Amino acid sequence: MTQELLPDHLSSYLDELVPPRPPEMLAMERHAQQISFNIIGPASGQLCYQIARISGARRIFEMGSGFGYSTAWFARAVQQNGGGEVYHVVWDSELSQQARRHLEALGYGSPDSAVAIQYRVSEAIQALKETEGPFDLIFNDIDKHAYPESLPVIRAKLRPGGVLIVDNLLWHGRIFDSSDQTADTAGVREFTRLMTTDADWVTTIVPIRDGVLVAYKVP
Ligand SMILES: C[S@@+](CC[C@H](N)C(=O)[O-])C[C@H]1O[C@@H](n2cnc3c(N)ncnc32)[C@H](O)[C@@H]1O
Repeated sequence: MTQELLPDHLSSYLDELVPPRPPEMLAMERHAQQISFNIIGPASGQLCYQIARISGARRIFEMGSGFGYSTAWFARAVQQNGGGEVYHVVWDSELSQQARRHLEALGYGSPDSAVAIQYRVSEAIQALKETEGPFDLIFNDIDKHAYPESLPVIRAKLRPGGVLIVDNLLWHGRIFDSSDQTADTAGVREFTRLMTTDADWVTTIVPIRDGVLVAYKVP
């Protein structure tokens, strides 16, 4: 059972409320649609940007960055927060190169930019393990079966009072189908259980697009 959880008119309405974006970001959105590549999209991107702004994040680690669309939202927030760095991490070097082209076109990562983009072509949990923390914000969008095993590493690298954002927690409705026992669906269910039963986190799943989990790491 795979379904879009929000009716089309509601998704479109939420996306249309997002303020105008640079042409390069619009081109990234069109490209994702053309090749059916799963990006967070405008409404969830705006939510990520908003949370990064509220929290004043200046050091962000992204896991599963694709061709850099979600990175662009975080880079914009970090720039407006006064500058810092955003890690772009994906295991496919072609996607990493595409991301570099898009993010440079958006003005991030040039010598006079306040935002440094750190590119890592790697499995993302391993990359986070190897990178010195702490981070103000971690965004997780890797293969869903790996969500539970990513949590101890995220916990270790996120600063107290930091924010964790994780995509696809409603998993196109598959979590509601008890006959779906695939590793990805099981990973989403287990990750949800871990996050919502642990007093060290204050967690909400925001039901826009495919469900965005937002969690505060209690200091
Ligand atoms: C859903 S797409 C990400 C899109 C991106 N976050 C955005 O919204 O623009 C996930 C990407 O991460 C890659 N990926 C999945 N699991 C990964 C892992 N464990 N380590 C590194 N990359 C991973 C996938 O191959 C894919 O390119």
